[in-house]
Amino acid sequence: MIHTESLAMTYPGGVTALTPTSVRFERGAVTVLLGPSGAGKSTLLHCLNRLRAPTAGRVVADGVGPLEDAAAIRRHRRRTAMIFQQHQLLPRVSVLRNTLIGRLGHHGFWRSTLPLPAGERRLALDSLERVGLLDKALVRADQLSGGQQQRVGIARALTQQAELVLADEPVASLDPGASRQVLSLLRDVCTERGLTAVISLHQVEYTREFADRVIALADGGVVFDGPPSALDDDVLCRVYGPGAVADLRRDAAGAAA
Ligand SMILES: Nc1ncnc2c1ncn2[C@@H]1O[C@H](COP(=O)(O)OP(=O)(O)O)[C@@H](O)[C@H]1O
Ligand SMILES: [Mg+2]
Repeated sequence: MIHTESLAMTYPGGVTALTPTSVRFERGAVTVLLGPSGAGKSTLLHCLNRLRAPTAGRVVADGVGPLEDAAAIRRHRRRTAMIFQQHQLLPRVSVLRNTLIGRLGHHGFWRSTLPLPAGERRLALDSLERVGLLDKALVRADQLSGGQQQRVGIARALTQQAELVLADEPVASLDPGASRQVLSLLRDVCTERGLTAVISLHQVEYTREFADRVIALADGGVVFDGPPSALDDDVLCRVYGPGAVADLRRDAAGAAA
């Protein structure tokens, strides 16, 4: 569906955030990018959506081609949804309007200022129903809880009719109950609609619960690529460094509580 070829990123100032990385993301799978802060997860996600241009290598999206020219980037973004940690909604605007922002790439900003066709409204309402927020459609986005706001982010991706969902620490600011609700919803809609998802997380527990595949990053390089069942202490030592496994066990016990 999308792959990278020796993708690398060095920021101005000299920080190497990603060493040459070649990975392929298959249609319909939920891949979790696991790693500590600074490992390069956000950088990889941003390169996959071309929010950042890599300093070497490239990203190739099936059916669109290498993401180097503006037309290819536009086509790619139209079918790619981003979900961020927070602050992705317009706070003073209704949940329905926020959901309809998913349609922007399909008809441009000028069109979205006009009354929207009934079909688009229907699509947005159906998406809100799927994430359990139909009754909040006319409420201002800033009236919602953090978990509900992330579910609006998922509804927006559904309204966009995205094929690829890139989520950058979507549950980092949520409590464990809301985190599990958001991640299981994300996994379920991806399964139902055959969407490809790449989700960055720093919690090992959630990764084990929700990933089909795990790519673990440390210091800008892939140190593990496999199923969550193979995520053992040895791998975690490579990801988080020696000594961190006991801390992770304690955190996991906290997350399960
Ligand atoms: N805009 C930037 N300018 C300079 N360095 C950056 C920038 N963004 C990230 N970095 C650095 O790149 C490395 C990887 O960061 P990032 O991709 O954000 O990792 P993660 O999402 O796993 O926390 C870190 O060392 C970080 O400090
Ligand atoms: Mg990050």
